[in-house]
Amino acid sequence: MSASATVSPPAAARRVPPMVDESMVSQIWKVSTAKNEIFDQARATYGDTFGLNLARGKWYYFADPDDVKQVFTAKPTILHAGKGNEILATALGEHSVLLLDEGEHMRQRKLLLPSFHGEKLDEQTGAMERISEEVVARIPKGETFEVRAMSQEIALEVILEVVLGTASTGKQHDQLGTATRDLLEWISKGYRLFLSSVFGPRSRPIKRMYKPALAPIDQGLYELIAERRQATDLESRSDILSMLLLAEDEDGKPMTDVEIRDELVTLIVAGHETTATALAWAMERLVRVPGGAERLHDEAVSGEGDYSRWVAQEALRLRPVLDFVLRRVMEPIEIGGFQFDEGDVLAPSIYLVHRREDIYPDPLAFKPERWDGVKPGTYTWFPFGGGVRRCIGMQFAMAEMEIVMNAVARAGILLPVGPEEATISRFITSSPKRGGQVRFAF
Ligand code: HEM
Repeated sequence: MSASATVSPPAAARRVPPMVDESMVSQIWKVSTAKNEIFDQARATYGDTFGLNLARGKWYYFADPDDVKQVFTAKPTILHAGKGNEILATALGEHSVLLLDEGEHMRQRKLLLPSFHGEKLDEQTGAMERISEEVVARIPKGETFEVRAMSQEIALEVILEVVLGTASTGKQHDQLGTATRDLLEWISKGYRLFLSSVFGPRSRPIKRMYKPALAPIDQGLYELIAERRQATDLESRSDILSMLLLAEDEDGKPMTDVEIRDELVTLIVAGHETTATALAWAMERLVRVPGGAERLHDEAVSGEGDYSRWVAQEALRLRPVLDFVLRRVMEPIEIGGFQFDEGDVLAPSIYLVHRREDIYPDPLAFKPERWDGVKPGTYTWFPFGGGVRRCIGMQFAMAEMEIVMNAVARAGILLPVGPEEATISRFITSSPKRGGQVRFAF
């Protein structure tokens, strides 16, 4: 493993990682459509650090946890995640916490964090439990169903209630629900991301392409924000929108409507597809483990045991929803003995680190019990990224995964449907091709 991060030496002594020898278009296509063999082949050929020639610069992938640690702990002034995530700018807006860096990023992050901790999380899990039970009760017994579609329905209801605070019925709830569902379905197509990387997320053609898809949700959200601003019970409300309306930064400045819109869309997009995909993979893998669905059922019924947590952790290891995270280099930096220039993109590879044989023996096997008594390592298990950019919704998502899995498992023992599912790309996620198809044994 490698040396510590320092500012780079003069250009003459530069040592850069090997570049994958393949056309740029082919590389962009494979990365934006989750053809992950490109990473396996590159690591086998070039080792733990290698570069791809992708749009707007060179992207360097890291498969060594020591290097990942250096990336995650580098100064936020040297490595920018916001710049790395800019492909999402068209949908999320310029104030999204995902797209900002340094002081601006910390300001938005601090405004958001209280909504996801302590008492708030307890209130949120209460809503998740109730909504999961309701949705699971509607699953037709004996028929094949898609875990991703079911989880999306749960995740959407959770978002409408917990994030936006709309009552579970009524015109506003239904309009926002439809607008959110339509937007998420629209942006889930991998080729739209491909076009954004080719033309740039802030280019006119891409903005024009997104405009009709964004219009209904923007209209719904701005109406909701205006209405909620008039509410006299903001302090006693527990939804995240109300908390954001009350939030003030260190200078006592509240958030503007546009900032709130951008953070709400960020939470909806970041929290919906990701959690539903993670659940789809968890079930898709679990039903193929002998005795796995039975154990989950028994523990869900008795309310005892850690199996659902292990299943969630193992699914996020072997089938991480996002295969890598991104940081853009703002000043020359050395990581793992290689020098990187301003403009380079550094990508700690979740996919490759999670498949290291030296950390996870028999790495391609789905074994929930490997987590028995084992705490996930910060730089060896990072499906939620790391450092000051680690996912704000990590505990929320883990809680939702366990709650939904237990609600489904209480209803019966799940069986696989068809052969194991291939990986396809939906928006930025790597998702099971048939959405995680299963059925109940009884
Ligand atoms: C299984 C589900 C989820 C996965 C796998 C996931 C994964 C990630 C990853 C990899 C990042 C980037 C971290 C980095 O760059 O180091 C991230 C950031 C983020 N996630 Fe999640 N996420 C999930 C669920 C959620 C949920 C439920 C929410 C909120 C409702 C959420 C909100 C966010 C936000 C706001 C950020 C940006 C944090 C920042 O830049 O400071 N995520 N997530």
